[in-house]
Amino acid sequence: MADLLGDMRRTHHCNQLGLEDVGLEVVLMGWVQRRRDHGGVIFVDLRDREGLTQVVFNPDVHAEPHAKAHVLRSEFVIGVRGRVTARPEGMVNANLATGAIEVMVSELRILNPADNPPFLIEENLEVTEAIRLKNRHLDLRRPKLQKNIILRHKAGAAVRQYLNGNGFLDIETPFLTRSTPEGARDYLVPSRVNPGQFYALPQSPQLFKQLLMVSGFDRYYQIVRCFRDEDLRADRQPEFTQIDLEMSFIGEEDIMALSEGLIAYAFQEVLGITIPLPLPRLTYAEAMDRYGLDKPDIRFGMELKEISDIVKDSGFKVFADVVRKGGIVKALNAKGCVEMSRKEIDDLTQFVAVYKAKGLAWIKVREDGWQSPIAKFFTDEEKARLAERIEMQAGDLIFFMADQPKIANEALGQLRNHLGQKLKLIDPQAFKFTWVTHFPMFEWDETEKRHEALHHPFTAPLEADYHLLESDPTAVRSRAYDLVLNGFEVGGGSIRIHDMELQSRVFKILGMDQATYEGKFGFLLDALKSGAPPHGGLAFGFDRLVMLMCRESSIRDVIAFPKTQKAACLLTGAPSDPAQAQLDELSLRIKATAKV
Ligand code: AMO
Ligand code: AMP
Repeated sequence: MADLLGDMRRTHHCNQLGLEDVGLEVVLMGWVQRRRDHGGVIFVDLRDREGLTQVVFNPDVHAEPHAKAHVLRSEFVIGVRGRVTARPEGMVNANLATGAIEVMVSELRILNPADNPPFLIEENLEVTEAIRLKNRHLDLRRPKLQKNIILRHKAGAAVRQYLNGNGFLDIETPFLTRSTPEGARDYLVPSRVNPGQFYALPQSPQLFKQLLMVSGFDRYYQIVRCFRDEDLRADRQPEFTQIDLEMSFIGEEDIMALSEGLIAYAFQEVLGITIPLPLPRLTYAEAMDRYGLDKPDIRFGMELKEISDIVKDSGFKVFADVVRKGGIVKALNAKGCVEMSRKEIDDLTQFVAVYKAKGLAWIKVREDGWQSPIAKFFTDEEKARLAERIEMQAGDLIFFMADQPKIANEALGQLRNHLGQKLKLIDPQAFKFTWVTHFPMFEWDETEKRHEALHHPFTAPLEADYHLLESDPTAVRSRAYDLVLNGFEVGGGSIRIHDMELQSRVFKILGMDQATYEGKFGFLLDALKSGAPPHGGLAFGFDRLVMLMCRESSIRDVIAFPKTQKAACLLTGAPSDPAQAQLDELSLRIKATAKV
């Protein structure tokens, strides 16, 4: 193939030239965004990763490139040489960085023609995400995605710079490993040389980073891919990236301070935004009480109020019964929403039903009293106490939820977020972080009929709660902390158990007998016996953090090659059928019933 480029070499990117460059001879390379013919003169918007420049083919000035330019179509790859000229008055485009100039082309090289693209490379596309993902190489040409991917690079660079500057060592850990429990299913990889045996891809480097602390590599970090086979959502991918770190001889405060420094540095470097430190903190109990969720969006108020004590003996049986059975009743004051229609309230009732709520009672507070299907059940004294607790004012609409704490909190917490959006109480420009601390150590899993670790089994319990470990596991608080940004969990970590006896006790509470936990985690217990320093750490969800920095609502928009909700890569067609020879080599047979 001919050397189409010849001696032509780019001198500038397509966002660089301005009035100060007028008269300069330049070379630009890129993709044809658009070609417009204006009675003899041809205009082309030339695009590269940085921006757009208008290049002009004028037959009266340079006949040869103009004659060639007629064939140009969207997405052709070209190189142009030409002189920078000021645009005539009235033609200046203030919305474009290079809008004051254009390049008068004296030489055109068509480096590669292109098929007509399945969609135009521009924003606000009307095509489905499936078509975009199938043509991801084209979709990635859109300026927004280019900006996101470049921002992601800058964020990663800032993180490395900060951690390198603070004495952290970047150490790689294996991908072909044993199961690392983080609460999701594992991706398994069959071993050819050990027929019938499998590696698990790591859900996180958790155990390896702890082992590195035992080995003395105090202050480890890694920007690392993790693999979790779980149900996907807008903020979850089957493979995603963590900023994973671990430190020795430290407590919670040290890790939180370091993490805050890292966040503030990255936001300053990448976005020029100052995050005020220290970041606010909530205990898990406070977060649940005030926001109903362990990842509260604190960009707006409208906090939940528990009213179980006021309504426990009331005439409204639904509320009284729930409290008697160990449930709670909570209220949410939608300020100024008294005129909300019946239909809208019904829609909100549907909304909370998704979170298994059984109903959504309401009171409209009018100048002349309450309008509500449930008002009649309360005594004057109960009404007065409710009005005070919920800070009712004429014009308010109050919602009530009675249920077991888990359901009531989640449903009302989600309703709060929903109303925050709907009522435009949220400043979309704001970045509001909060720590959530003192998570419970265990959670009762009703289907498995056993306790589960809320963070992971290597998290240390709070010393003050050691005595409850066996007698009342769900009451034990842990030394785990999450970092929440605008209602998203962007990081989580804990102080670890460094004592082998305590680790064995926790395994037992999780329902493992000695043979089981020694079989699975014997290597960790051996390490803990070999001189393990006190240690702890944290992992940020890098994709989520970048998503929020980019003000996007899906992590797919900050990952170059993301997967769909069904964990498929539409571009390459993964996952795909293996060849029979591969299965034979791996000693595997697919069950006849596997495919539907
Ligand atoms: P955790 O499981 O909380 O902790 O994960 C840390 C952070 O990773 C992000 N995250 C995800 N992002 C995208 N897609 C997913 N499927 C996904 N799952 C998690 C979240 C989360 O806060 N080993 C511990 C960390 C530690 O204790 O140091 C761990 O992995 O933002
Ligand atoms: P009912 O007595 O079932 O007609 O319910 C009266 C009102 O209470 C309706 O607005 C229901 O949506 C609401 N309601 C029913 N169960 C609950 C519950 N568990 N929590 C909150 N409101 C409820």
